[in-house]
Amino acid sequence: MKHIFKEGKNKDAPVLLLLHGTGGTEEDLLEVGRMIDDEASILSVRGNVSENGMPRFFRRLAEGVFDEEDLVFRTKELHDFLDDSAEKYEFDRENIVAVGYSNGANIAGSLLFHYKNALKGALLHHPMVPRKGVVLPDLQGKAIFIGAGANDPICPPEETEGLSRLLKEAGADVKVQWEQSGHQLTLEEVQGAAEWYKNYIRKT
Ligand code: MLT
Repeated sequence: MKHIFKEGKNKDAPVLLLLHGTGGTEEDLLEVGRMIDDEASILSVRGNVSENGMPRFFRRLAEGVFDEEDLVFRTKELHDFLDDSAEKYEFDRENIVAVGYSNGANIAGSLLFHYKNALKGALLHHPMVPRKGVVLPDLQGKAIFIGAGANDPICPPEETEGLSRLLKEAGADVKVQWEQSGHQLTLEEVQGAAEWYKNYIRKT
């Protein structure tokens, strides 16, 4: 997969896996990653799917309606890419924390829904429930931050609450931060995510 890897100053810090929104690229979240942890290594990936020229991490049939078969296939593809990247760049495979926005948050959520040890934790900005009706793996010990907009037309509050409940039921430690905003990623949300990361990820 097309990506950027930047080795961080602190080899014990997690590797931040940056996953952009629809129409984005691997450049988009570099600054957000730096704000979350400026000592961490960064693995920023571009989605392999193109929707009218806009990169995405999996296909959709309509706004908010996902192509499940492609979602499962692309989730495995990203999972395998993480395995390969850990070997190639010589980092700890067990120490990856995803930072995803919108479509990128949805593929990160899908990694958590399908694989027990894909991620150590995740910061999900404006995610949806990636797939309904599946049994989640045991997610005990996983720390997950969800940033949501009270007026987000793409991820309405019920979606955020549903995702949070499913992750908690699977054993994850979930924090939801609500902003009085829509679907956009605000500075306040990233600052809140950075604060949460300091308390829940870097301390562990
Ligand atoms: C998705 O397709 O993943 C969500 O609708 C968010 C987005 O617009 O990318």
